[in-house]
Amino acid sequence: MKPSEKLNKALNQQVGHEFAASQQYVAIAAYFDGEALPGLAGFFYRQAEEEREHAMKLVKYLVDSGGELEIPAVPAPRHGLGSAVEAVQLAVESEQRVTGQIYSLVELARQDGDLIAERFLDWFVHEQFEEMTTMGGLLQVVERAGEGQLLRVEEYLERQPHPEAEGEEG
Ligand code: FEO
Repeated sequence: MKPSEKLNKALNQQVGHEFAASQQYVAIAAYFDGEALPGLAGFFYRQAEEEREHAMKLVKYLVDSGGELEIPAVPAPRHGLGSAVEAVQLAVESEQRVTGQIYSLVELARQDGDLIAERFLDWFVHEQFEEMTTMGGLLQVVERAGEGQLLRVEEYLERQPHPEAEGEEG
């Protein structure tokens, strides 16, 4: 089913939001990489890949449903991060914002009675729950460790299962 004009526009905007999230995570990963914290850097490089996959899922949906793909310009990510807490806080805020955007998309699909779009978006709703949980947990761990004990955060990340190792989809 072809998405309504309004939903189509919002889906295109979401493609941009997901690419923007991906670039923000590259910037966060690079910050940690520069601080010689490979665990945190790797975690955010992987998140960046996942966000790109989210954008591509939306691209594919627009193409398959007969919608019009128009990828918007993406705003520059924030650089110049001053601490691990600031970097992870930025990620938490990004996930909260994306969750709100996904909820708005679900609302639009409901208003249109577009059940196919609504079911498609279910995946994103679950994914946001997971990402908000993971990111919120990481912020707690980083805050608890403090800037002087970030190697403990690295150990914590090493103990976390990597989704790709379990064969889960990004
Ligand atoms: Fe695709 Fe984490 O938002």
